[in-house]
Amino acid sequence: MEEKEISQAVIGRLPRYFRYLGELRDEGVERISSQELSELMKVTASQIRQDFNNFGGFGQQGYGYNVEYLYREIGKILGLDHTHNFVIIGAGNLGRALGNYINFERRGFIFRGMFDMNPELIGEEVRGVKVRPMEELEQFVRENDIDIAVLTIPKTSAVELVDKLIQNGIRAIWNFAHVDLNVPEGIQVENVHLSDSLMKLSYNITRYLKESGQDTN
Ligand code: NAI
Repeated sequence: MEEKEISQAVIGRLPRYFRYLGELRDEGVERISSQELSELMKVTASQIRQDFNNFGGFGQQGYGYNVEYLYREIGKILGLDHTHNFVIIGAGNLGRALGNYINFERRGFIFRGMFDMNPELIGEEVRGVKVRPMEELEQFVRENDIDIAVLTIPKTSAVELVDKLIQNGIRAIWNFAHVDLNVPEGIQVENVHLSDSLMKLSYNITRYLKESGQDTN
């Protein structure tokens, strides 16, 4: 398959395609036209065609898309044909919620370890994974082929930790700490801030109320 330089906007849309196609596949749907996919996903058919054209198309004139094939190809583009071992650092509310989420494994993300500085939490289990002390982190990362660290700790702790993680072979950070991390080239960081999403929601509520004349302010 021919691959061009793909914009982050397109990459950002791929997981949603992947999710819908996975559901269609599970329902036994074998093929789908861009029009049908467009109605299902509420994006224009031309957007879908444009997005897929970045990867050489996938579709056949008059046939539409083969769901299984498209699902697998998008999975490959997203790197989901490989497994990724991850550790969670910070076994508090958020860390535990993430650790308890089973579907990560379905996508090839394997929950290997959990770490915390609080001695009271050491030895507790989250979905069969023991919480370990921070002193064991570096060796664990090296010996267990861990490539992703999930940071669910406060921001000051996150900054201090990042260099150690990188020195021991971490390639990517899924960062929930509210801080921008400075990392060398080649290390991937994905920041997740749930409150950003909530603020977007707030903006859209406010805009809707204004536009529909219901804003009383
Ligand atoms: P929490 O207080 O329940 O858990 C934090 C855990 O991190 C505690 O178990 C604590 O012992 C541990 N910890 C603190 N410093 C550490 C260090 N240096 N090394 C190892 N472990 C350390 O807090 P919660 O609710 O789980 O939130 C965790 C962090 O995530 C907070 O800083 C919060 O601001 C942030 N957060 C981010 C969200 C997002 O959308 N990005 C959403 C919710 C929380």
